[in-house]
Amino acid sequence: MFAERTKQHGVLQSGAVPPLSVGRPTAGDGGALWRLAVDTGVLDVNSSYAYLLWVRDFAAASAVARAGGEVVGFVTGYARPDAPGTLFVWQVAVAERHRGRGVARAMLDDLVGRGTTFVETTVTATNEASIRLFTALARDHGVRHTCEPLFTEDLFPDSHEAEELHRLGPWPGSPRTRTPGET
Ligand SMILES: CC(C)(COP(=O)(O)OP(=O)(O)OC[C@H]1O[C@@H](n2cnc3c(N)ncnc32)[C@H](O)[C@@H]1OP(=O)(O)O)[C@@H](O)C(=O)NCCC(=O)NCCS
Repeated sequence: MFAERTKQHGVLQSGAVPPLSVGRPTAGDGGALWRLAVDTGVLDVNSSYAYLLWVRDFAAASAVARAGGEVVGFVTGYARPDAPGTLFVWQVAVAERHRGRGVARAMLDDLVGRGTTFVETTVTATNEASIRLFTALARDHGVRHTCEPLFTEDLFPDSHEAEELHRLGPWPGSPRTRTPGET
């Protein structure tokens, strides 16, 4: 059972654990993101350099959660260059001891609260936690949620499950942005 949670002024509070703050990553956070990704044991871990670069160049489309100054969760994302208004969420990770209390959700809420029209992510069909996370985000924000094949297994040069595209939106109040090929 998840602890009761409330979010006020960017701070996630729970009776059982210290408060968490959620916001943009800063330049020194790259190493902590890499460590969290490694510790999940399930994410495709990128080079440490990639995370250092990410928090430098894509902080506006990424989020971290901190407890007592320590980074305990992150979302990396970027604004799709060919689809302005679409936030692509690349990786989400929460330290094991902080899971199940709305940390991932608080980071995604923070990101969409910065203003976006659509959210996209890819998920493997077996990643139930991730599917539930994005299903809950769409449900609670009252936006449409679609899923279709994107990267099929044969596109990967190594052994990799197919990645399905989840698309959420449009977000109310955001100017609807047309994507290339959209009618
Ligand atoms: C997936 C992950 C980020 C979830 O973080 P979290 O902080 O525990 O998630 P939250 O507490 O914010 O939960 C948000 C929603 O997802 C659901 N959820 C979270 N973890 C779940 C799990 N293991 N199984 C089923 N549902 C789960 C919650 O029930 C909640 O939905 P609800 O509002 O309908 O109850 C975390 O488990 C993790 O880091 N996993 C390893 C890395 C990974 O798989 N990342 C996702 C792919 S990029």
